[in-house]
Amino acid sequence: MSRFDQQDQKLHPRHEEPAFNEIISKGLSRRGFLKTATATSTVAFFAANPVSQAIAAQAAKGNLMGFNPIPVSTADTVVVPEGYQADVLISWGDPIFNNAPSFSQNADSHAQARQFGDNNDGMTFFQISDDRAVLSVNNEYTNYEYLFPHQGKKMTADDVKKAQAAHGVSIIELSNMNGKWVLNKNGRLNRRITANTEMEMTGPAAGHTLLKTAADPAGKLALGTFNNCANGETPWGTYLTCEENFNGYFGSDANPALDSNYKRYGISHQDAGYQWHKFDSRFDLAKNPNEPHRFGWVVEIDPMNPNSKPKKRTALGRFKHENAAVTINNDGHVVVYLGDDERGEHLYRFVSKNKYNPSNPAANRDLLEEGTLYVAKFSARDGELKGQGEWIELTWGKNGLTPENGFADQGEVLIFARKAATQVGATTMDRPEWVAVNPKTQQAFCTLTNNKNRGVKANQPIDAVNPREKNPYGHIVRWMPSGKDHTANRFDWDLYLIAGNPAIHKNGLMAGSDNINEDNMFNSPDGIGFDNAGRLWIQTDGKYSNKGDFAGMGNNQMLCGDPDTGEVRRFLTGPIACEITGLTFSPDQKTMFVGVQHPGEELAPSHFPNGGNSIPRSSIIRITRKDGGIIGA
Ligand code: FEO
Ligand code: CA
Ligand code: CA
Repeated sequence: MSRFDQQDQKLHPRHEEPAFNEIISKGLSRRGFLKTATATSTVAFFAANPVSQAIAAQAAKGNLMGFNPIPVSTADTVVVPEGYQADVLISWGDPIFNNAPSFSQNADSHAQARQFGDNNDGMTFFQISDDRAVLSVNNEYTNYEYLFPHQGKKMTADDVKKAQAAHGVSIIELSNMNGKWVLNKNGRLNRRITANTEMEMTGPAAGHTLLKTAADPAGKLALGTFNNCANGETPWGTYLTCEENFNGYFGSDANPALDSNYKRYGISHQDAGYQWHKFDSRFDLAKNPNEPHRFGWVVEIDPMNPNSKPKKRTALGRFKHENAAVTINNDGHVVVYLGDDERGEHLYRFVSKNKYNPSNPAANRDLLEEGTLYVAKFSARDGELKGQGEWIELTWGKNGLTPENGFADQGEVLIFARKAATQVGATTMDRPEWVAVNPKTQQAFCTLTNNKNRGVKANQPIDAVNPREKNPYGHIVRWMPSGKDHTANRFDWDLYLIAGNPAIHKNGLMAGSDNINEDNMFNSPDGIGFDNAGRLWIQTDGKYSNKGDFAGMGNNQMLCGDPDTGEVRRFLTGPIACEITGLTFSPDQKTMFVGVQHPGEELAPSHFPNGGNSIPRSSIIRITRKDGGIIGA
């Protein structure tokens, strides 16, 4: 992830105009807070209203979690609790077809297109029968320091094709052999989707002038998907893959003039180092200025039909999508919660126009094509870290989304959703990552991973929902829609946890909320998901220096939380310099799949998973209980 974070930092495209939440700024101003928002004043401010009171979930022992928590680790391996076992299902470069070549760092583009992609991220397990399943997996990006023997220093046209083939989605069939899910290289559904796979643009922005290119004058047929971060799945059996840091793949040696709509998305003549534009003119902004508008979408894929054409769902808006948390509302509307992962960006909600029909699966296929997009605005009473919020509609002609403000039509509202969110006064957030809805209670949770600009940039003031200056550790916000109705435009929110380091910081917000202690501390919550029993699984993509503010936190990890008591226990620790991201379960909850992404990034000394002098490889880990029981119970 750090490559894209650096790109964002370098280009700092985020608008600077103040967008204060009125109620919060009023409340905080009364205390003279905004004027003196230093670390000291933050502590002083909240001392009057301790975090322990603000956190609704009090750390207490429940019986949702049946495993013993594990300590932090700096070892180059995956560790799971006593009574559990973990091994590798598949790694970057493994062949996924019977006749595909075995892993080699020297593989060319043709080989890579028939192998498992790099940097696996979000994924979903779809069971077909007792002994057959399909796993759809995002391959977010690739590390040139390992993808090529020359580490990206001597790129060729085929190297760019290889990098493009290492991105996208891998769809693999699994067979159950004596209780263990294993890759079936002969599976009829095995498929690679890459940065060059044909995709249909659908929804209100399809065919828009801004999506038309020389190769696709109709603006309806895009090529490929990349930087596929997290995911979602629908009850009608499709997979959703979310395009995140697409901006970093475009560039131009011609240094074309780029207006504010490019800048808002971090698109510049300088790419993030991939060099695609040097060998593939599709990525050269001077030659194809509309090509980047065809990325930053949620893509729907039918994993059961290897010949199906993936569909980009423009109704869900264009931004740096993290995941797509799909829930069916009580009245049948499909509601999708969506985070935009960049400092000071926003949290969104999509509500389908039509309703889910459980008795006619075919009728549900295009529910994501039409609907309404909303963005969140949070408010709170003076001094409280909880409050109300509202969803503001992003529909052309409403809420100032009009030609006078630069929106010609609904297509532009969706293509420049970030600009529309600013126009309607949405709350700037501390990098919204994954959203997950608790199947037991309907409460939704969103990780806000960290934000060094909080309280520093004028448009990102300290507020109740983003309460910590420079937020180095991240936090998790949760909300309950009014009447448990996900289509309602009001919700009540509070903070489930504030990550922190109580070993280094004895009090104040830097110590974290009451449910964080020296035994379970971590930083930068990112991937989250609920299992069927309502356990909240939390994955981290944070600083693994184990020094300074991060001393005692070790490598990136996965924790398990009880949403009722607030208790958090560490369940898994990852190898050196990895991020833990991506989780899915077999429906019997007896196998859990977890992603280890970019072990050894930036040439850190990892040889995971194969040891010796081998190069590190992103991998999916298969976790089971030795007694065959339910994970986490
Ligand atoms: Fe791909 Fe925001 O993580
Ligand atoms: Ca992430
Ligand atoms: Ca992250």
